[in-house]
Amino acid sequence: MNIGEIISNKRKELGFTQQVLAEKLNISFQSVSKWENNSSYPDILLLPRLAAVLEISIDSLLGYPPRSLTDYDKRYNTENYYWGLIPNTLCYEIMRLKPPAKPFKVLDIGCGEGKDAVFLARNGYNVAAFDVSDKGLEKAKELAAKCNVNVDFFKADLRDYKLDTDYDIIFSSGVFHYLPRRLREGVIDNLKAHTNPNGINIINVFVKKPFIQLPPDLEVSELNADDWKSGEIFTYYHDWLFQKCEETIFKCNSGGTPHKHCMDIIIAEKN
Ligand SMILES: C[S@@+](CC[C@H](N)C(=O)[O-])C[C@H]1O[C@@H](n2cnc3c(N)ncnc32)[C@H](O)[C@@H]1O
Repeated sequence: MNIGEIISNKRKELGFTQQVLAEKLNISFQSVSKWENNSSYPDILLLPRLAAVLEISIDSLLGYPPRSLTDYDKRYNTENYYWGLIPNTLCYEIMRLKPPAKPFKVLDIGCGEGKDAVFLARNGYNVAAFDVSDKGLEKAKELAAKCNVNVDFFKADLRDYKLDTDYDIIFSSGVFHYLPRRLREGVIDNLKAHTNPNGINIINVFVKKPFIQLPPDLEVSELNADDWKSGEIFTYYHDWLFQKCEETIFKCNSGGTPHKHCMDIIIAEKN
């Protein structure tokens, strides 16, 4: 496929008219029309934004096969653990709400280098965890082996992975901003359907605030994510019992430059 066909197909798949796409890019619809007819090409400086709006990589936009290396593969390709080894505080919330009196089944979505999955496994949970990053999974498996615990690590993509077993606890930290808006309801419904009675879903998601700047280590691919609105994640769980719903702003130093994030956190129980 040539670039014009790719733009036209993706635009239609997303339900955008040429006018809508043009408005999102701040250009005229005639420009979009010319690209799609292959009578001109998008300006090279527009490619990151165009790829982000069309929810594809620049490689795919230009008709190249997807690279196997994700941005996270690059970040994780170091001796050190990019996110450190200290478990997320939400792991302690899991232990408070569902103490491991029996081996509760946990799914960690977007487990990265596995620090939380391994921590939970060390504390007696029966943990499965997935991510799209091969390098993250490789390091996660090494960590589990070092800590002498079993975790079922596997590669899957949150955007199209359909759960085939039920869990007591479904946990995800720092991942749901990769979930395009049009997929959210279907993905979350699938998680809810595969949560055991009295089980919990515990999810945090970055939300965009006009007074907080984008993080400096944000990769181009991360622009693909649709922004989550304040409180949006809570609405998907309106029919469950809220154990926690909170919005918080915190400082972060990932990538070496201090910055801030705003995050919504939900702990909802299937009641
Ligand atoms: C900010 S990191 C968080 C990692 C881990 N949850 C933690 O807190 O240490 C985001 C993770 O989401 C993963 N990820 C991104 N898109 C994904 C997708 N569509 N499906 C599964 N994992 C994804 C990345 O590879 C990365 O490891």
